[in-house]
Formats: sequence, structure tokens, C-alpha cells
Amino acid sequence: MNPDTAAVAREPERVLIFDTTLRDGEQSPGATMSHAEKLEIAELLDDMGVDIIEAGFPIASEGDFAAVSEIAKRSKTATICGLARANLKDIDRAWEAVKHAGSPRIHTFIGTSPLHRAIPNLTQDEMADRIHETVTHARNLCDNVQWSPMDATRTEWEYLKRVVQIAIKAGATTINIPDTVGYTAPVESADLIRRLIAEVEGGEDVIFATHCHNDLGMATANSLAAVEGGARQVECTINGLGERAGNTALEEVVMAMKVRNDIIPYTTRVDSKKIMHISRRVATVSGFPVQFNKAIVGKNAFAHESGIHQDGMLKNAKTFEIMRPEDVGLTQTSLVMGKHSGRAALRSKLKEMGHDVEGNQLQDIFVRFKALADRKKEVYDEDIEALVRAQGAAE
Ligand code: KIV
Ligand code: ZN
Repeated sequence: MNPDTAAVAREPERVLIFDTTLRDGEQSPGATMSHAEKLEIAELLDDMGVDIIEAGFPIASEGDFAAVSEIAKRSKTATICGLARANLKDIDRAWEAVKHAGSPRIHTFIGTSPLHRAIPNLTQDEMADRIHETVTHARNLCDNVQWSPMDATRTEWEYLKRVVQIAIKAGATTINIPDTVGYTAPVESADLIRRLIAEVEGGEDVIFATHCHNDLGMATANSLAAVEGGARQVECTINGLGERAGNTALEEVVMAMKVRNDIIPYTTRVDSKKIMHISRRVATVSGFPVQFNKAIVGKNAFAHESGIHQDGMLKNAKTFEIMRPEDVGLTQTSLVMGKHSGRAALRSKLKEMGHDVEGNQLQDIFVRFKALADRKKEVYDEDIEALVRAQGAAE
């Protein structure tokens, strides 16, 4: 049994995190990373407890091959995976790159929906033979083989069942069910995995994975639903980086399982305190900034500006926060000073800056602060410092 299968067999509630930032994420137009940047991100992923790192698509370029080989050589605990299309040359190249890892995996795929079958112009039977041949070949090289029917969620049910069965018989140890174009919905996502596990012979002996795209904004919900249906591997990327609207965001899956473990009773090995650092590094090296209101890692995810919210936060942080900033690697909540901020927040900010101001003095600064905030979107510490100095000079 390979180490990934063994981990899930030991702990039935454990969900493997398969990160594909360096493969599907890097496929986003304009998100290309340098060799050194890929090594850095892989090291951060390994250190934070990601179970499987899809390090690249070795046949795609010399650069991809070199990065996957080097990541494999440097890997510590993570399994290192390389992607390959359904042909022997791709699979050999992927194996050449990942074989240096302590725990290597080959991931091979083919598009199985009618639209995707039309591209290589294969009949259902011809494609079935190709799947048997390629998965068998991969399994002869490596005992950890993942197979994906691309566009699974738009593949006819009977055909999907048939090809999954073939891949399992040929030796695939993980069956990934991609929602390639972000088309599914949570109820369907759970049902698809549940039915495959129940109806395919040997379905209970392999790991089912979910790989969702966010075209309808449902990638995280669909991934969690698939876990409810029996998937034990979630494929995701940091910041949800990925083609079009992106992939399932790793930070959302990890934190959803942590914060709502009462109704999402699964665990991952990821150290959530390392989320913010890797999120910032991926944003920088990919050139894709994180939107301000992005769940978990957005600049505003732990920021409060309205007076009511700031007052509530100063009394009890749980009033408006469902997770602690420290749990994702932030030092503290930020109270953004702006036109919606109240007197209590200003007093607290002044105190934090070393000014113990009360009574009329506080009132004067507050009036001038509000006037300034009306003109500026955000009032910075330097602006507040200037207000305090002006108040001192006026007295
Ligand atoms: O979205 C997809 O179908 C993929 C496959 C290669 C797994 O990324
Ligand atoms: Zn994908």
C-alpha cells in the first residue's frame, strides 16, 4: 500500500490535501513562476503539511521537467506528483521527473465527456483501451497512480462508471473526479462520488478525489460536498489560483473543516498558521494579487471599519469573527480607521499608539478625525499622529 492510501486507511476522517498550485495554478494565463519560485512554493507546501504536491507537467517543457525533478529530490514528507496525458511518452517523462521523490506519484488523465472524446476522435471503446494501456503502464513504473477522467461531471454516467472501473482494474490507486469547467453543484458532486464508490467494483479500495473549478463560484462547496459523499482527497490551490475563475482554494477547505468541524467532521494535516505567509508568496510570485474580500486570506478578511463592528470587536472578538486571525498566521485583527469608525475605536487606536487621551481632548481629535475620514478612504496611523500633534499645538 502506498503511503497516501495507508494514511486514509488508518484515519477514516482524514482528508488528503493535494495542492496543484504549481501545475493547474501555474496554468493560469500570466501566472508563470520561475524555477527558484517553484522550489520555494513547494518547500512551503511541504512544510505546511500538504500531503501531495502536483509539481508540474514534466513533458510540457524542459523547465517544467527540471522543476518537478528538483522538487522531487528536495521533498521531505509530501508525495510529489507529475501530470501526464494518456500516452506512454508523457507517462515515462513524468516518471523520470518524480522518481527521485521519497514518495512519487504519476497522475495521468484523458477527457471522457462527449466533447472531449471528439478531440482525439476516439470511440468509447478505443478510449477505454487507451485508459487500460496507459494506467497499466504507469502502474508498472510506480505503485502510486492517480487517474482522472477530465470533464467527469459532463461525462455520461454509464461511460464514467465503465472507465473508472477500467482504471481501477489496471491499478490506479486514486481516482480523481474533475469538475473541469466548474459545472456541477453540491448535491450532484456528493452524489457522483457516493454512487461511484457504491457501484464500481473495488471502489472502496481506492481513494476518490475531487478536483473542482470555480466558474460558478461553487468550487469549495462542491469539494466539501464530494468529501461528504466519500472523497478523501481534495485538489486545490493556494488563493484558488487557476485557469478562468480558478480552482478550489486550499485555505477555504482547510479552515471550513477546522471552524465547522461540528458539521464537516473531517481533518487535514495542514498547519493553518502557515496559510497567510504562503498566500502572500503565491500572490507575489504569480503576479495575481488576492482580492481584498477573498475568504480567509483577503486584506479585509480580518478587518473592521464600521463603528458598530469595531465597538463589538473591542469588547469581544467573537462578535464579528468566526476564526482567530492567529489561526491563519496573522498577528491580529485590524481595525481600519475610516469614516465609519466610532469614538471607542479611535480611543483604542490612540492608546495602541501610546496616547492616553480622554474627555474633551479625545472629542476634539475625534471631530477632526471624522472630517479627515470624510475626505480620505482610510486614515493611517501617520494621519492620526498628525491630528494628535495638531491638538497638542492648539492647547
Ligand atoms: O480540471 C481538470 O480536469 C484538470 C485535469 C488535468 C485533472 O486539471
Ligand atoms: Zn483543473
